[in-house]
Amino acid sequence: MFRNLSDHPNDPIEAMFVRLANDTHADRIDLGIGVFRDDSGTVPVMQAVRQAEARLLERNLSKTYLSPLGNLDYCRSVEALVLGDDHPARAGGRIVSAQTPGAGPALRAAAELVHDLSPGSAVWVSTPVWGHQIEFFEQAGMAVRSYRYYDSGNLDAAGMLEDLRSMRPGDLLLLHGCCHNPTGEDLTLDLWESVAEIVVETGAIPFVDVAYQGFGRGIEDDVAGLRLLASRVPELLLTVSSSKSFGIYRDRAGLLSIILPPEARNAGAVRRKLRDTLRQLYFMAPDHGAAIVHEILSTPELEALWRSELDAVRARIVELRAALRRTIERANPGFDAGFVERQQGMFSCLPISAEEQLLMESRFHIYMLPPARVNVAAMNREQSEVLADAFAWVRAQREVSIRHGSRAGPSRNRRANA
Ligand SMILES: Cc1ncc(COP(=O)(O)O)c(C=O)c1O
Repeated sequence: MFRNLSDHPNDPIEAMFVRLANDTHADRIDLGIGVFRDDSGTVPVMQAVRQAEARLLERNLSKTYLSPLGNLDYCRSVEALVLGDDHPARAGGRIVSAQTPGAGPALRAAAELVHDLSPGSAVWVSTPVWGHQIEFFEQAGMAVRSYRYYDSGNLDAAGMLEDLRSMRPGDLLLLHGCCHNPTGEDLTLDLWESVAEIVVETGAIPFVDVAYQGFGRGIEDDVAGLRLLASRVPELLLTVSSSKSFGIYRDRAGLLSIILPPEARNAGAVRRKLRDTLRQLYFMAPDHGAAIVHEILSTPELEALWRSELDAVRARIVELRAALRRTIERANPGFDAGFVERQQGMFSCLPISAEEQLLMESRFHIYMLPPARVNVAAMNREQSEVLADAFAWVRAQREVSIRHGSRAGPSRNRRANA
């Protein structure tokens, strides 16, 4: 049966991770994978998580099955964290939620559900975007359309709004709640307002993916745009990842929520449909990570500890961004790296082409995902200096090739991955 299976077509992300694994250089730098590292290069486990785990162990937590909707206590806790305690849809019983094995499977399940209910609906994604997001929708059979989002280190707000006016009723509009992956470029509240207006005019359904709450401006500020949008539109889909905000990447906990319009009276039917979809996809999510998150969010002293730890992560990212900007500008006189300091969260993209990215890989052992997405939150001071020097070297090579008439310009890839 498997004898005729040929190698998977070379997916650029997969290919990068294979090259990284094969690179035996002692000082290779992994800026690809989307995790937060401390100065020693360790991916730390939060104290709040360790304490919650100890409490769960002490209480002899059950390991029996749950329904495909997963840990519903986790759902209520995360809904409140993201949407706020007083969101009207919560009080009105208009939210149908499931705990999923992270936001990735939540996106995939949502795509499956939407395609099943509305086969003609397309999903609109930013250019560029976290590449797996495109795959989730394509694999479910949905048409994927793109909207302009980023141009030369800046948000392309005008291009985005113009493109979104072409959405059709029932289309999904995928937005990143904060810390856009891969650009780090977020919408202002005014832009969230404009997006809400276009959604209402076109009849599209916003789908907000919150993967980095607390990594940008703050735990509450990072979801202010989502909350504004949720207060303006009748229907909304939401995915939340607990992987990054709680640092429990491999424990797999996430949320998928459907906010129904005020007049909807069929929350029970929607819940059953969601449950059946999840059962067909993976049967049931693991509970450990979800139980930890609920324990933290329902225990005031643990929640306070978690908030202070997440604030410290954010402060470090802000510091790293400022330092990286200075280091790049020092190594590249006249180059304005202000975008690195201004952008939010883990990622920023260097203005280099795919070929230049490969050159940096082979010469400096620096690994990034397309389109030259750098995980600023995974870097220490020494590594940022190597990156700045490598960037300067690549720019110098570019100058030489321009002089000789062959230019490899900045990448225009629409996908990025983590
Ligand atoms: C925007 C975005 N959504 C979702 C995910 C998936 O997160 P999870 O680990 O919860 O599946 C990621 C992970 O990198 C992401 O960047």
